[in-house]
Amino acid sequence: MTQNIKGFSKLSKEEKINWIVETYFSNPEESKKLVKQYWNTSENLQKLHDEFIENTITNFYLPYGVAPNFIINGKHYTVPMAIEESSVVAAASKAAKFWGERGGFKATVINTEKIGQVHFLFKGSVEKLQDFFTEIKPKFFLYTESFTKNMQKRGGGILDIQLIDKTSELENYYQLHATFNTKDSMGANFINTCLEQFAKTLENEAQNFVSFNEDEKNIQVIMSILSNYVPNCLVRAEVSCLVENMSEDELIDSKEFAEKFVNAVKIAEIEPYRAVTHNKGIMNGIDAVVLATGNDFRAIEAGVHAYASKTGQYRSLSHAEIENGIFRFWIDIPLALGTVGGLTSLHPLVKFSLEMLGNPSAEELMKIVAVTGLAQNFAAVRSLTTTGIQQGHMKMHINNILNQHQATKEEKTQVLDYFKNTAISHSLVVDYLDNLRK
Ligand code: MEV
Repeated sequence: MTQNIKGFSKLSKEEKINWIVETYFSNPEESKKLVKQYWNTSENLQKLHDEFIENTITNFYLPYGVAPNFIINGKHYTVPMAIEESSVVAAASKAAKFWGERGGFKATVINTEKIGQVHFLFKGSVEKLQDFFTEIKPKFFLYTESFTKNMQKRGGGILDIQLIDKTSELENYYQLHATFNTKDSMGANFINTCLEQFAKTLENEAQNFVSFNEDEKNIQVIMSILSNYVPNCLVRAEVSCLVENMSEDELIDSKEFAEKFVNAVKIAEIEPYRAVTHNKGIMNGIDAVVLATGNDFRAIEAGVHAYASKTGQYRSLSHAEIENGIFRFWIDIPLALGTVGGLTSLHPLVKFSLEMLGNPSAEELMKIVAVTGLAQNFAAVRSLTTTGIQQGHMKMHINNILNQHQATKEEKTQVLDYFKNTAISHSLVVDYLDNLRK
């Protein structure tokens, strides 16, 4: 059968599946059964999920776990996490417990400004363009009133619009650089709608600006789009305690551990290879909550990594210090999140997550997400600088290995028992299981 198909999107779901399994699979009936096994038994729920995207044929599950015992600014939370990587939720929970016993996390929203740009080409006098911009600036606000009215009622709206000259980098290239406050919504639709209206206003008004010549009247808008780089939509999460309280067990010396930890973070501040992995550990926590609360993890990832490079070198997002006998560990992270609109009102499990978090405002969610990232980072760096990462990681992963090899309940108990105090690797587990079965 050909692998090229016209009008695929017009086929029914059943026809799409048939085409897929017959084109690509050695056992079409079995593959079809698998795809359908993941359908929800509730037709309504399945329809809801089908309609989130195009060409849906089934659902792709991710585990949804929870990390209890987070104390943030004195308030208790159980944090929802959607993630496939074993040990992430356990690590977050352990870090939450550790810091819960030391006063909890503090979190502060530093700013909530979002950004959008209209990129355009203008051939002519920059002074005339500046005069034109100053004259028509009120019209950008006026002609977007129908969209901004509701946002303003909620305390948000367009904050400012600036004309930026980028011609030193690209011939004739200018921008309208606009800032927004979108309150509890992530605001992508609001911002993009405003920007597209700014673009129209720009082009139309240029036609009527008397001092422009013919070339100048023909402003060419290249594109209008929000930016996922939001360095001024920033939240800080932090923890601190006496250095002497840093260890939980007599095998680890508090001072030595605290100093080692600070050095590990400093290494990630100056060494990009380490910084990327260090920040990946932070994103293990961040992405999991972002997903579970129906936010756009790609946008968050893009913005966070750009922020990590803001000095021109990719660096750690978190920082640590010891001063006057106090260990302090903190993160500043840009998070453009929403708790209304988008998937937040559509996906039943997203609603569930938000209710479990006490239906937070976007600012409160920024704090929760940043804290989870910090907790995750703490857990990873603690393991790395004490026992090594593999111990905890493989302990969690052992279950995956056992499932892969269809271990019975009895086999699982025996294997888990054996590896309680022994080094774990994939092959050691498989060998042990093979021996058991002999
Ligand atoms: C693994 O998913 C994350 C870590 O590599 C993070 C780190 O190295 O800090 C453990």
